[in-house]
Amino acid sequence: MSESFTTAAVIGAGTIGLSWTALFAGHGLEVRVTDPRPDLAEAVEAALTAAAPQLAARGLDVRGIADRVRLADDVAEAVRGADVVQENGPEDVVFKRELFATLVREAPAHALLLSSSSAIPATAFTGELDDASRVVIGHPFNPPHLVPLVEVVPGARTGEETVARAVEFYRSVGRTPVVERKEIPGFVGNRLQNALSREALYLVEQGVVSPAELDTVVVNSLGLRWSTVGPFLGAHLGGGPGGYRHMAEHIGASMQRMWDGLGTPEQGPEQTEALIEAVENAYGHRSYAELTEERDRRQIAVLSALRPTDNATEENPR
Ligand SMILES: NC(=O)c1ccc[n+]([C@@H]2O[C@H](COP(=O)([O-])OP(=O)(O)OC[C@H]3O[C@@H](n4cnc5c(N)ncnc54)[C@H](O)[C@@H]3O)[C@@H](O)[C@H]2O)c1
Repeated sequence: MSESFTTAAVIGAGTIGLSWTALFAGHGLEVRVTDPRPDLAEAVEAALTAAAPQLAARGLDVRGIADRVRLADDVAEAVRGADVVQENGPEDVVFKRELFATLVREAPAHALLLSSSSAIPATAFTGELDDASRVVIGHPFNPPHLVPLVEVVPGARTGEETVARAVEFYRSVGRTPVVERKEIPGFVGNRLQNALSREALYLVEQGVVSPAELDTVVVNSLGLRWSTVGPFLGAHLGGGPGGYRHMAEHIGASMQRMWDGLGTPEQGPEQTEALIEAVENAYGHRSYAELTEERDRRQIAVLSALRPTDNATEENPR
């Protein structure tokens, strides 16, 4: 019988924690949120107000969503009675080491201890714990209440049962978990993202395109393609009826010759400042709220197009 997760603790309510809060509450969980930020109440309220109609558009019944979210004064209070704890504090190994020591001590013995860590593997912050068996990475993509992927990455001491339960939990909140077999900094998603970002920075630094032009290239080609087929299936189809074999033999060698010419951006303080200014020039005249609303509307449209039937909602990912 599948396990029922009814209570979640969200530790850290920045960009990611607020989005998880909305997703968990949207799926009917009781959520306890803690964060030392002085505007926690306002931030949670604003996040739920923005996310509720989006979750409704994805087929969830969001009535009473705000009533299921409570603020907690500290970590111990947040994790009391929790079945699952999702950590979203600073991307800092010392912070995560100390926090997970507290979580192991304070959370109920059955609680899953999940970290949103973008690049720090679990083994790096669980080595000194008495019991690290319940700790596993659950790395989402921003915003996790809309983007389905969660990378589930066990550390050296994570229990097998924890991995299975984490997969079950993320499926229960409509996510698409993928278990990765080896720890590697950045996991899979951020390594891929970084490989592309490195070349993107290089192309902008070299004056080949502006940041906005580069975004136009991606949104109108790779981004669109990758929302329907991944790089390997894309290449298999790019080879025509001869498939990946034809692609490898025909264009593969010429693509590989390009590897040596891929760029490494300089990104010293001067180049970084120039890049920040270029991005601000492109997008800085529009507010964060306006830009995220537009992004989320487009993402919902893509998700809806990919899962058009009535029963293929967040509850039933493909
Ligand atoms: N932003 C992204 O795109 C993204 C995507 C996936 C994963 N992540 C990861 O998620 C985590 C959070 O990232 P973010 O972008 O939301 O960061 P953020 O800076 O927006 O939020 C971090 C929050 O942690 C809070 N915090 C600090 N000390 C705390 C404590 N002792 N207890 C509770 N909360 C505390 C801060 O007040 C802040 O609100 C990081 O590990 C990050 O790598 C980020």
